[in-house]
Amino acid sequence: MSIVIVGIGELTTNDASASVPRSHDGPIGEDRLAIIRDAAVVIEGSTVAWVGPAASAPAADTAYDAGGRAVIPGYVDSHSHLVFAGDRGPEFAARMTGEPYSAGGIRTTVAATRAATDEQLMARVARLVAEMRAQGTTSLEIKSGYGLTVHDEARSLAVARHFTEDTTFLGAHVVPTGTTPEDYVDLVTGPMLSAAAPHARWIDVFCEDGAFDVDQGRAILAAGADNGLRGRLHANQLTFGGGVRLAAELGLTAVDHCTYLADADVGALADSATIATLLPGVEFSTRQPYPDARRLFDAGVRVALASDCNPGSSFTSSMALCIALAVREMGMSPAEALHAATAMGAAALEREDVGVLAPGKRADLVLLDAPSYLHLAYRPGVPLVAGVWQSGRPVHPAT
Ligand code: NIG
Ligand code: FE
Repeated sequence: MSIVIVGIGELTTNDASASVPRSHDGPIGEDRLAIIRDAAVVIEGSTVAWVGPAASAPAADTAYDAGGRAVIPGYVDSHSHLVFAGDRGPEFAARMTGEPYSAGGIRTTVAATRAATDEQLMARVARLVAEMRAQGTTSLEIKSGYGLTVHDEARSLAVARHFTEDTTFLGAHVVPTGTTPEDYVDLVTGPMLSAAAPHARWIDVFCEDGAFDVDQGRAILAAGADNGLRGRLHANQLTFGGGVRLAAELGLTAVDHCTYLADADVGALADSATIATLLPGVEFSTRQPYPDARRLFDAGVRVALASDCNPGSSFTSSMALCIALAVREMGMSPAEALHAATAMGAAALEREDVGVLAPGKRADLVLLDAPSYLHLAYRPGVPLVAGVWQSGRPVHPAT
């Protein structure tokens, strides 16, 4: 079964290999979007079969007219913590009137998550994933980290696995009450890792004051690697520290937050292939200063954007909001921000099949009620998503 989507006013492909006219005189970084105007996409089954100018589109079994709308690849949200129970709205309200954010708030969610049934956790994740999908997110990563017992971390990951292959074991989120850091690291690197590994692809550590230090992070990532898990890190979110340099030294795929960076951190990232994943929902919601994306781009660092959707530091599921904040507050151009939220999100998850619209890739695309991707930041807060296709099927609005 094939379908041709015609009438695409502006198609962002992110396909660096495509021979499309490049708008080198357009907004900064737009060449990386490999935009085709007046375009069509042919989908066969779950994958893209063809992209190009509508005038030369091959025939297909059925046709869909995008009505001149812009089409972008589905967002790849490479950082979320969706498996949780409870609510921290009052904590957010206190922050907005001056209370600082601290890692300790995680324990509030841990208590609520442990008390929830598997069914309650599944239902909550399903709602959040549907909320994301309706806003254009077609691939995502989900972390554990609100269980912090062997049983609760394993079941958090088992729940997450129903929704994505990109599950991340974050037993090292914070040291739970009633144990010492030393004993807890032994648990995380021992029985908890053994129980978690079958459900996880990645391992992560919250490397920060009030959570885990660089030596503990190194030991936990090494244990994860011994169990076949790829490493990633939360680092330099609340303070300067060695987490980002550890990520670069180990050649991790991604290091996330990167809010407080010394020149040595930027240099280490630039000398590595590690992607700096920036999470502007966190700075919005914690009143921290936004990271300086321009400094990273200028140094040659690879940059992704993600939501960090979680009940404490960033309870947004909107990648469009992240794009708007990155453009307004972090020095990204609209093109750099869209690329960071799609192709670079895929790279941050080592996913070859998503983030790009090209033959052979998964047919994940978003129709915007707008003539151009520029409207994502130009019209902040406006629900521009007119339709979402995931693996070649229309998934939003529900059909
Ligand atoms: O990515 N930094 C650590 N973890 C989350 C926050 C979790 C929470 O506050 O519940 C984050 O920001
Ligand atoms: Fe996080």
